[in-house]
Amino acid sequence: MSKQILVLTGAGISAESGLKTFRDSGGLWEDHAIEDVATPEGFAADPELVWRFYKMRYQQAEQARPNAGHYALAELEEVLGEQFHIITQNVDGLHQKAGSKRVLEMHGRLKRCFCTDCHKRYEMSRTDLSLPVPVCDACRSVLRPDIVWFGEIPYYLSEIDQLLRNCDLFLVIGTSGVVYPAAGFVLTARYHGARTISINPNEPANNTHFDECIQSKAGDFLPSFVAELKQQVLT
Ligand code: OAD
Repeated sequence: MSKQILVLTGAGISAESGLKTFRDSGGLWEDHAIEDVATPEGFAADPELVWRFYKMRYQQAEQARPNAGHYALAELEEVLGEQFHIITQNVDGLHQKAGSKRVLEMHGRLKRCFCTDCHKRYEMSRTDLSLPVPVCDACRSVLRPDIVWFGEIPYYLSEIDQLLRNCDLFLVIGTSGVVYPAAGFVLTARYHGARTISINPNEPANNTHFDECIQSKAGDFLPSFVAELKQQVLT
């Protein structure tokens, strides 16, 4: 039985909760240009447009409920405790809503924003979202969503590196494998001896790096897979 299980998730795990992915057909990047809504330059050029995009996503995420995939991972953490961690590229908070605690949100979170000048942090729920561009209570500068944009450095990279070096099983769920550094994590985990498995109904771009690619939806596959892993731990 694997000792340390590490999971990396992407937008695909939340697809069955009704949230759009980015690059699938009908995905978010079909109607929105990455450079307009997911870069510091886009925000500088049109903060109202960027705020409209993230207010919409925040409201959708608030209404979304975790699905069987999220719940299965939370159940596994209950059994494994410190031996189980999730790294997520998702900003929707659904892992935590399902009960997961050891979650590193490497691309930020929709439920927070911060001041572009003094860096004071705010909960979206306590921010005046009726303003086209919300402002800081403390210094009146513009607030921005707490999202890591293209060209910025993801959060928790040193913690993530430690987890990748020490895991025995690395599961990568619902990510297209095109956005770095996350797309390269499989190589680090594998180099340090982990078994690596991708779970995705389609082939991710980095599929050749995995020991095994399981072509399935997260919500279909994870409940039985997790039940099996739990069985191995408990017997
Ligand atoms: P993508 O939209 O690039 O990829 C979603 C993946 O989920 C695809 O490979 C789908 O095949 C897969 N998928 C769809 N439905 C699924 C299901 N039910 N179960 C499992 N997998 C499913 O999303 P990400 O890879 O998460 O960054 O995108 C990575 C980053 O690019 C995001 O964090 C975001 C984006 O631009 C920023 O905004 C900074």
